[in-house]
Amino acid sequence: MPVRLGDTAPDFTAPTTQGTIRFHEWKAGKWAILFSHPKDFTPVCTTELGAVAGLKAEFDKRNCKMIGLSVDPVESHVKWEGDIKDVTGHEVNFPMIGDADKHVSNLYDMIHPNASDTLTVRSVFIIGPDNKVKLTLTYPASTGRNFIELLRVLDSLQLTAKYAVATPADWRKGEDVIIATSVSDADAKTKFPGYVTKKPYLRVTPQPT
Ligand code: BEZ
Repeated sequence: MPVRLGDTAPDFTAPTTQGTIRFHEWKAGKWAILFSHPKDFTPVCTTELGAVAGLKAEFDKRNCKMIGLSVDPVESHVKWEGDIKDVTGHEVNFPMIGDADKHVSNLYDMIHPNASDTLTVRSVFIIGPDNKVKLTLTYPASTGRNFIELLRVLDSLQLTAKYAVATPADWRKGEDVIIATSVSDADAKTKFPGYVTKKPYLRVTPQPT
C-alpha cells in the first residue's frame, strides 16, 4: 500500500549508522524527512548525501531531523561515508538505515518494480510533529534531488500549519502569501487587514509572523 498525504507515517525499528532506531521514538515530536536512495557507492547518491549533510544546520533550524535509507547494509553505509566526505567535504551527520531485509522500503512502498526489482527509488517523505505525512516525492535514480526545495517546503508547511494561508508558486520565506479560501472576506478583514483581492478566490497578504 502506498503511503499517502495525511496518513500516519508507519512506525518501524531499523538498524542505522547511529544504532538501532525506533522511528516514532527517534523523531520525538519533531519534523522528520525520511528519504531513500538506490545504492551506496554510486555517483548521484554520493552527491545527494553530501548535500543533505551540508544543509544540516538549516534542517535543525526548522526542527527537522533527517534520516536516509537504502537496501545496503549499515556496514556498507559506514564505509561509503568516507567517500562522501572526500567528494563533498561534508561528514555524514544524520543516520542512514541499512534496510537489507527491505522492511522499511516495503512499508513505505519505496521499491517500484517497473523501475528496479531490487533497489529503492529516490523517495522523500516529510512527516510532521503529529507523525502525519505532509509531503511525498519520488525521483528516478538518474536525477539527484534539490534539497533546498525541501527547506522551502518545510517553511511553507510550518507557516500554513500555524496560519490560515497557502503559499503561491515559487514562494520563499518572507514573500506574500495567499489567504485560505476557507476564510470569509469578513474574517480576512480582521485577520489580514489591508489584504489585496486579485480575484474573489485569490487574496494576497504579507506573510504573517
Ligand atoms: C547513482 O546514484 O548515480 C545511481 C544509483 C543507482 C542506479 C543508477 C545511478
